[in-house]
Parts: sequence; structure tokens; C-alpha cells
Amino acid sequence: MTIPTQDELETVVFTIEDGIAWVSFNRPEKRNCMSPKLNRQMMRVLDELEFREDVGVLVLAGEGSAWSAGMDLHEYFRENEAKGLGAIRQAQRESYGWWRRLRWYQKPTIAMVHGWCFGGAYGPLFGCDLAFAAEEAQFGLSEINWGILPGGGATKIAVELLNFRNAMYHAMMGENVDGKKAAEWGLVNEAVPLVQLKERVSEVAKVLLQKNPVALKATKDAIRRVGEMTFDNAEDYLVRAQEAANSFDNDGRKEGIKQFLDDKTYKPGLGSYNKSKGGR
Ligand code: ACO
Repeated sequence: MTIPTQDELETVVFTIEDGIAWVSFNRPEKRNCMSPKLNRQMMRVLDELEFREDVGVLVLAGEGSAWSAGMDLHEYFRENEAKGLGAIRQAQRESYGWWRRLRWYQKPTIAMVHGWCFGGAYGPLFGCDLAFAAEEAQFGLSEINWGILPGGGATKIAVELLNFRNAMYHAMMGENVDGKKAAEWGLVNEAVPLVQLKERVSEVAKVLLQKNPVALKATKDAIRRVGEMTFDNAEDYLVRAQEAANSFDNDGRKEGIKQFLDDKTYKPGLGSYNKSKGGR
């Protein structure tokens, strides 16, 4: 494993206040476009925060005028294309990896989009469970403007969040929409004037902090999973997901491990632990 350089570490900043982790893209001079360094560092930060007791909600924000201007056309595309397929695939794994991590994050997540949000940035936008924008923010699938299709999941995200006509228009025309239109289209939950954005996001985060965290994780996963299921499959999945959540602190597993490692009363390879001695 390579040790990150200082400039890599600085591509993401965060603070934790009253249970809320405020995480920001931090390449304002490059409009927070996502370089391989930023993608690697974001994964490290997500790792660090995911199971911390003092973090109940994660907000993804951006320093400077942009939320994120999408992929770094220089460091992500041009430099890796010059290095070859291995480098291209590695960079894709790193970016898609943290967006996927965000989609299934343990804690509730909120995108707080105050400024530019382009192309690849739709990955983390969709990765966050909720999204709030400034009315002044600008959203665009600008890929078509420089000659590619919206990749990295962006086309899928447009289809997931927008209706067919708006998704097609948005992807084909390369025109930006502001926060108000993004809310109307369903790209974000709500748009408020920029000066009220942080206050509104804090308000929502505080409500989430009051909820049962096991139920929140089960709920957010369920919302993402059931979209691709038949009704009957969803019904069944939801019963099982609820039951799994009910027994989240299931002590049977611990008992099974204890009887093997400590009591040495059975071998899991040869049979089951003794339930009557504890656990469920
Ligand atoms: N990739 C690489 N560099 C970028 C990117 C990007 N996506 N976005 C901004 N930068 C760099 C600029 O090259 C410039 O660098 P420099 O100071 O070394 O010249 C610096 O960030 C500042 O950018 P400006 O264009 O000067 O900032 P401005 O505020 O005038 O404009 C805007 C902001 C509209 C976001 C503009 O930078 C832009 O159009 N960026 C590209 C947006 C885009 O289409 N992203 C790709 C989406 S497709 C995908 O992600 C796959």
C-alpha cells in the first residue's frame, strides 16, 4: 500500500459537529473536479467516519464555488489514458468504488450542493440518500459538450431520477439546470436560497439523528433495493430485512463463537453450538 502524499490528503476535508460529519471536496482551485488522488482520499475519509460513534449523519459538501465539476479531465482521463488500460481501470475502480460505498453507507448521507455539479459528480449525488441544493446551483450532464456519453453511472442515474423526456433532454442537450429545476425534476429533494442551505441541511440532519440508526440503515437499503424487484420479491425482502434488523444485536453468533473458541464444547465444522446455553 502506498502512503498518500500531503496534497492527496488535502483533497478532502471534514469536521464533526454534534453528530454530523461535514465532509467537503477540497480542490476549490480546480472546482473540486475528481482526480484519482481525491477519489482515493474520499474513500479513506468514508472509511474513517463510517462506524465512528460520534458520527450519525454524513453531509457531502464542497469548498469554493463548486460542489464538484465532475471528473478531472486532465488527471483522471488524459493522464490515465496515456498510461494505458490498467491505469484507466484502476481510476474507474477508485471512483466507482467510493460512490458505491456511499450508496450503501452505514450512516444516512446528505448531498449539500451549493454550486457547480457536473457529469461524474452525479455519482456521489446519487450515492447520497438525500440531496439539497441552493437555488443558484448549476447541474449539468456536460459530457456531450466534450464528446462522450454520460458514463460512470451518470446515464443510469439520470434515468433513475428523471423522467424519460427530461433524462433524454438533459443528456443530449448539455444545458445546465439550476437548483430549482433540479428539485422540480427530482435530482434533489429541495432547493432553497444559498444563504439558507446549510441551515436547512442541519435541520434535516438533526431529525435523522433522532431516528433509530438500525432502522435507518434498513430503510435506506430497502429503498434502493426494491426498485428492481417484483412486488412479491420486495414484500418478501422487506419482511426479511425487518427481521434481520430486529435481531441486529443477535447474541446467538457471539454465543456460537464463544462455545467454539473459549468453551471448546463443539466444532462449527462438525455441528451446531448448543442454543440452550445462551444466545438465540
Ligand atoms: N477537469 C479538469 N480541470 C477542471 C475541471 C475538470 N472537470 N473543471 C475545472 N477545472 C479546472 C480548470 O481547467 C481551471 O484550471 P486552471 O486554473 O489550471 O486553468 C480551474 O479548474 C478553474 O476552472 P475555470 O474554468 O477557470 O472556472 P470557472 O469558475 O470559470 O468555471 C466551470 C467553472 C463552469 C465548472 C468550468 O470549470 C467547467 O466547465 N469545468 C468542466 C465541467 C465539466 O464539464 N466537467 C466534466 C463533466 S463530464 C465527467 O465528469 C465525466
